[in-house]
Amino acid sequence: MVCCLSYHSSYRWSYFSDLEGRSCGQQPHGSQVRTQPWCVIHICSLTEPSNDEEENESQPQNHVDKTKKEDIIYSEYLQLNKILHAQVLESSKHNNPVHDEHLFIITHQAYELWFKQILWELDSVRSIFFHGQIRDERNMLKVISRMNRVNQIMHLLVDQFSILETMTPLDFYDFRHMLMPASGFQSLQFRLLENKIGMPEYLRIPYNRRNYQHCFHGEQLKQLNASKTEPTILNLLQEWLERTPGLEAPGFKFWERLNESIFMNLKQKTSHAQHHPNSEMREDLLAELQSKADTFVALFDEKVHEQMMCKGARRLSYKALQGALMIYFYRDEPRFQVPFQLLNSLMELDTLFSKWRYTHACMVQRMIGCKSGTGGSSGYQYLRSTVSDRYKVFVDLFNLANFLVPRTWIPQLPPIVQRSLAKADCCDSCYCSSADESDTSLDSLSLSCEDSRQARCLPRVIPEHVHVKLTNCSTGEGAGQEIAVKKDP
Ligand code: HEM
Repeated sequence: MVCCLSYHSSYRWSYFSDLEGRSCGQQPHGSQVRTQPWCVIHICSLTEPSNDEEENESQPQNHVDKTKKEDIIYSEYLQLNKILHAQVLESSKHNNPVHDEHLFIITHQAYELWFKQILWELDSVRSIFFHGQIRDERNMLKVISRMNRVNQIMHLLVDQFSILETMTPLDFYDFRHMLMPASGFQSLQFRLLENKIGMPEYLRIPYNRRNYQHCFHGEQLKQLNASKTEPTILNLLQEWLERTPGLEAPGFKFWERLNESIFMNLKQKTSHAQHHPNSEMREDLLAELQSKADTFVALFDEKVHEQMMCKGARRLSYKALQGALMIYFYRDEPRFQVPFQLLNSLMELDTLFSKWRYTHACMVQRMIGCKSGTGGSSGYQYLRSTVSDRYKVFVDLFNLANFLVPRTWIPQLPPIVQRSLAKADCCDSCYCSSADESDTSLDSLSLSCEDSRQARCLPRVIPEHVHVKLTNCSTGEGAGQEIAVKKDP
């Protein structure tokens, strides 16, 4: 049996009914009800009852009336009246109702609702990073589970196109002309998503030689502009990666050690290859080693990195790239396990966005061939061009695979660094339980990224031999103040 529990937080009694509406009676708060051998429901009130309510207990009839009046009703809670009356068919307005237009509307509305949920999750993740709560590594679990939720929704959104594809191109043809010039291109939430994740403006493919912004005005344009100045997931990820613990630990400079180890091993391999008896094999091996060496020479050259940044081929700062690579190499260390998962979930998000773009483009080709879109673009051609690495925000994370080396080439961590990576960093002022989340207002996210670095109590690199006393992030008290204390040996 599935039970419906209706209650009001300030009442002591809750009312049970099964889904068919049969009453199972009222139960006092604090009690337990066993509905099935496997199901016990605990009745609890969220607030202590007032004296008035205690009086009401002796007058159950009054209580029933009051509860009925204030009960939350399913349809009201979900505002179904609004949602279920929001499907107005253009074809009906033209006195020529087309059956499939209903599906077309419902599908788009479902997409928009899920976009809203994704924005909700991404805003909360940005807030956790932005307010410095991420410094308490217990908050990582929340971040990763929300990112995984976003990815699950994206899976659904990719699959959901198949439902719309049950509409034939001819059925679509019957009402498509009535939709001009409306287009998914005008979806504000889709643009907010792209911007908040970190899609750079300069890499966008112009549509009809115009900027995507031209279709937004007034309040929508304001929201869109705000999304361009707020710190994006990419910006926040970069700041976080730059602080990767162990990156610049005393006595262990990860980047220098990696550089030494890789070139030493490459040199050894090259000298072995030079003595290979088979000349053809020798040349192949040497060419392969040379190409590897070129890759690593470029990796360790900061100027090359800057040039690639200018071209948009890399998006993360040089230091953040080093942090990401460190997490990749040492992902088995306890402190890097969840960060590693976060990097994976961000790649997954990019992959799912690409899949969304690709599936959408294929569906468009199937529906309208090479005709131009209702929004005025070249249609399929335009959409196809967006399925590329230009639109991948976390492209650097994918490219880390270029720099993977055999495990034996990875520099050994000194015991002090290894110890510091065995234990998560926790600081109570930065821990946010779900109940604290109302404090993490997103309003302040409208600060520019540069301001945000100054406004928050972000730790810089945390050397392993000192303990940094963290400042209160929610009040901002003592922002920027870092107190170094020598760790007990
Ligand atoms: C029969 C179904 C569909 C067709 C034929 C179609 C067609 C198009 C076309 C031709 C464009 C390019 C802009 C233009 O010239 O209009 C476009 C863009 C877009 N559509 Fe659709 N679409 C369909 C369904 C959907 C659905 C269900 C969504 C979900 C929200 C959607 C969201 C978008 C978005 C967000 C863009 C902008 C993409 C970008 O600029 O990267 N479309 N669509």
